[in-house]
Amino acid sequence: MRVGIVGSGTMAGVHIDGWQHTDAELVGLFSIDPATTKKLAESSNLQVFSNYQELLDSVDIVDICIPTDLHKEFTIAAAKAGKQIICEKPIALNPDDAQEMIDACKNNNVRLFIAQVVRFFPMYRKAQEQISAGVIGDIGVMRLKRMGYMPYGFENWYADENRSGGIIMDILIHDIDYALWLAGKAKRVYAKTIKSKNPEITADYALITIKFENNAMAIIDGGWAYPHGNFSTSLDIAGSDGVIEWKMTDANSIKPILKEDNKNIAAVAVPQSVLEQSPYATQIQHFYNALKNNTEFDVTPQDALNAIELALAAKESLQTGKPVYLGGK
Ligand SMILES: NC(=O)c1ccc[n+]([C@@H]2O[C@H](COP(=O)([O-])OP(=O)(O)OC[C@H]3O[C@@H](n4cnc5c(N)ncnc54)[C@H](O)[C@@H]3O)[C@@H](O)[C@H]2O)c1
Repeated sequence: MRVGIVGSGTMAGVHIDGWQHTDAELVGLFSIDPATTKKLAESSNLQVFSNYQELLDSVDIVDICIPTDLHKEFTIAAAKAGKQIICEKPIALNPDDAQEMIDACKNNNVRLFIAQVVRFFPMYRKAQEQISAGVIGDIGVMRLKRMGYMPYGFENWYADENRSGGIIMDILIHDIDYALWLAGKAKRVYAKTIKSKNPEITADYALITIKFENNAMAIIDGGWAYPHGNFSTSLDIAGSDGVIEWKMTDANSIKPILKEDNKNIAAVAVPQSVLEQSPYATQIQHFYNALKNNTEFDVTPQDALNAIELALAAKESLQTGKPVYLGGK
């Protein structure tokens, strides 16, 4: 199958690496930033399409790696052109847009995969497998942390909450999706943020507490509060029969700390892994194999929609200062 990438920023590069781990034919890319497009096309030996239609006419699969507010428009156009779609997280900035994307894919008989990559990080996956096998009993409390630095993207789109959705929608969405994967439906959410010293954004740290229908709780915190170049995640899940813990900083214990540490820092934190194969490549292999073999995706578009619904409820709680009850309960 022939693949075209939309975008030429950080995630386009990460996805291009991922496609190298499949037998798909990566054909070319389309992006509106001429400088990064040329650089990425040359370094990856890819054709440059001069517009989106040209890309759509040339491929079977579209891989969308552009700012979140554009996911809907590009996904719907790809669906109407009959292309299979992988799109970066979060699916969209609101459930109505996400539903339109899902409906367009259904109506045009194409499949949509949203790249909620945390489900492909082996530690997170192993924890999920053990929990669903009942190893630690019933989940009581999950503490999930994800702290990165303020990302800088094309035209500084991350700083514009109308484009990125801010920290809850952009970065904590990973742990919101993970918590939903582990515990099922949420019934109540409450969130607090700390105002950022960076005048470009309203908050760079958030704490979210979620109560699930099965009475499990999640405490999710993090954001963009670290200094540039730093990133860490952790999970700590307590059940009725035991605990599962993991910290990224432990796994990455051999990390040279250099005086000149400002060089080669990615514009957005992309969690690195000590493993031989990047979880981003595992994710692309999963998507591609599921297309080829017509098997289920490990993340459904509905999962991605559920995650943004919960993220929006957390944001609503910030506005009201009160817990928000899902499903009106
Ligand atoms: N899964 C993860 O770990 C992870 C990490 C970072 C970002 N993301 C997600 O990936 C997506 C892209 O993020 P990024 O950091 O690569 O952004 P970026 O700013 O580095 O790149 C965005 C690209 O989109 C292109 N673009 C912008 N408008 C366009 C248009 N109208 N037509 C064609 N191209 C256009 C720009 O030229 C740029 O190359 C976002 O949805 C983000 O939330 C996911």
